[in-house]
Amino acid sequence: IGRRIVHYDTIDSTNTVAKKIAAEGAEEGAVVIAEEQTGGRGRLGRQWVSPKGAGIWMSLVLRPSIEPAEAAKITQIAAAAVTLAIRRVTGCEAGIKWPNDIILHKKKVCGILTEMGAELNSVSYIVVGIGINANVDVALFPEEVKRIATSIKDCVGNNISRKEIVLHILKEFEDLYLDFIYTKSIKKSVEICKAYSVTLGNTVKIINRDQTIIAEAVDLTEEGELIIRNQEGQMEKIISGEVSVRGI
Ligand code: BTN
Repeated sequence: IGRRIVHYDTIDSTNTVAKKIAAEGAEEGAVVIAEEQTGGRGRLGRQWVSPKGAGIWMSLVLRPSIEPAEAAKITQIAAAAVTLAIRRVTGCEAGIKWPNDIILHKKKVCGILTEMGAELNSVSYIVVGIGINANVDVALFPEEVKRIATSIKDCVGNNISRKEIVLHILKEFEDLYLDFIYTKSIKKSVEICKAYSVTLGNTVKIINRDQTIIAEAVDLTEEGELIIRNQEGQMEKIISGEVSVRGI
């Protein structure tokens, strides 16, 4: 992973570029990084603000032999890798809000957007987009963003080396991804996601299409799905959805 890194000053979205080069045959492990994104994309069609030079805006091209339904596993691997990298490089106590947000001091510091290209029932490529508010100045966030987002700089007190974080993410990701490819299991990543989870043990609100559920987050399965105890006391498995954790 990261043997070839394509670096841009300004582009619309590293995910869009990574999908394009993947569709044109880019090799597994190719990485697209930009200093600034003019059309950064978040989940659910949201915009991802990506100011110049301050963040880590990058996308990885992968070609695992998996079914489309398994794509969410790659998000869990990425969440584990980013959390380990932030913790190891900065000492900040990063946590994971299932399934794809990295949290510092109860606020979001990183989001992950996994997209894929698939034919029939097989994946031809996966693009994992990682957006980290590294050296972003929190004071510049609009009020409504300030309430929910933070940066590594805000935790550490000064600018950190984006390069060091990127190199650590790529290394941790490669270890966990290869383990998944060889064992066909994301158990190792799930253990990390559990250890640093800010979701488990808390009351969560899950919004899935037109349904909203209030429940207690109990555990993660070996496949990385969330197990909740609903208000009737029954256990349920949640595969995806928008989750908000009380107090975060
Ligand atoms: C989310 O939390 O909604 C996911 C945010 C993902 C943002 C990253 S930044 C790099 C890559 N390129 C994009 O356009 N989006 C992802």
